[in-house]
Amino acid sequence: MTYEHLDEEARQILRDNDRGGYTVPTSGLYPYQWNWDSAFAAWGFSTFDIDRAWVELETLMASQWDDGMVPHIIFHRVVPEYFPGPDVWGAGGNPPTSGISQPPIAATMARAVYAADMVAGRPRLEAMYDGLLNWHRWFMRARVDDGMCCITHPWESGRDNAPDWDEGMSNVDTSGVGAYQRRDTSHVDNDMRPTKEQYDQYLALLYFSRDCGWDIETINRTSPLRIADPGMTFMLLRAHRDLKWIGDAFGRDTTEIDGWIDTMVEGAGRLWNPDGGYYDSFNMRTGAFTGTLSCASFYCWYAGIDDQRMLPHLDRILAAVKYPIPSYDPDGPGFDHIRYWRGPVWGMANSQIGAGLTEMGYAEHARKIREGTRAVIADHGFAEYFSPVDGTPAGGQHFTWTAAIWLTYASPQAKGGF
Ligand code: GLC
Repeated sequence: MTYEHLDEEARQILRDNDRGGYTVPTSGLYPYQWNWDSAFAAWGFSTFDIDRAWVELETLMASQWDDGMVPHIIFHRVVPEYFPGPDVWGAGGNPPTSGISQPPIAATMARAVYAADMVAGRPRLEAMYDGLLNWHRWFMRARVDDGMCCITHPWESGRDNAPDWDEGMSNVDTSGVGAYQRRDTSHVDNDMRPTKEQYDQYLALLYFSRDCGWDIETINRTSPLRIADPGMTFMLLRAHRDLKWIGDAFGRDTTEIDGWIDTMVEGAGRLWNPDGGYYDSFNMRTGAFTGTLSCASFYCWYAGIDDQRMLPHLDRILAAVKYPIPSYDPDGPGFDHIRYWRGPVWGMANSQIGAGLTEMGYAEHARKIREGTRAVIADHGFAEYFSPVDGTPAGGQHFTWTAAIWLTYASPQAKGGF
């Protein structure tokens, strides 16, 4: 089988989703700039248009808040069909933004874009360094407790409706939410999206932080939801390592980052659930593990932690599904092969886990994940996500990050890592 036509299709998707300076995840369902989607887009662009790759990251960083936070959505233009829009967030900004962040992978992707062309990249990367450093500082101040990176809203994790948040979310009071009109379910099937009850909880939490004026200390102390997430913890730890590498390349003093790395290596260890025997989320409000083995549990290698204890889980799951890696354990209660983060395969997560396995020397596992990612896209197209059971393409189509990781990771022509 030849795949060249898919390389061209992937490039075309990135061009089609380019709105000038930023890329939408897909038209219709997601009409704005999303933080980690953009970082993946930059990585994808770096395979054929270096300048455009840097512009993507520069546009993202241009919306950084004064306190260092880089928002999860940037509302570059008015799209009345999207809910919840900038008026609901009430977070200000020009262009307006949401009030929470998202997985901080931009430093990692900036390093990858730089690797693709160091001559073109050097001044761009150097100009971005202080902004990235301030964002990481914000995370350490606002979200990291005991070395574990916590979320205050499921949307911040990038895994919106993962089972990890179920129990914590059940304590969120939704009585003040009122009536609203959802827009996501007019683009895709209801059974592929979060439920109405979950949506009420998302809004209640959004209103809660908004009514705290997005103040870090108040939210830390009082938010009904604060859960340490292995995904966020491993991604931030990885990004710290890449940021340190960048700082060292420019002769900066990186001892502050060394301290963060030490803190978070220890924190990551605290996310090991000894009962289940896997990396788990931890509810900071109740002091209990959430008991959820997810794709995020497999990000340890990507974070530079060589942990063989996760390999048997990976073997079991690889044997259980047609396409790797389900976002939630197929043997877990409530696994749903088509509902968003409760089972489906997300190609971008595979690219991170696969790259981590390669870096740690687990070549055979890495090969299976990379070939599985190639197969699911080749067989079922550039969808937002896929059923691990039969590959059914789900969510949005013509999707930016699926195209980006095809070009960087899944295609036989791709580098296959960072
Ligand atoms: C969904 C995903 C999130 C992503 C966004 C845009 O909310 O859960 O991770 O960033 O869509 O693609």
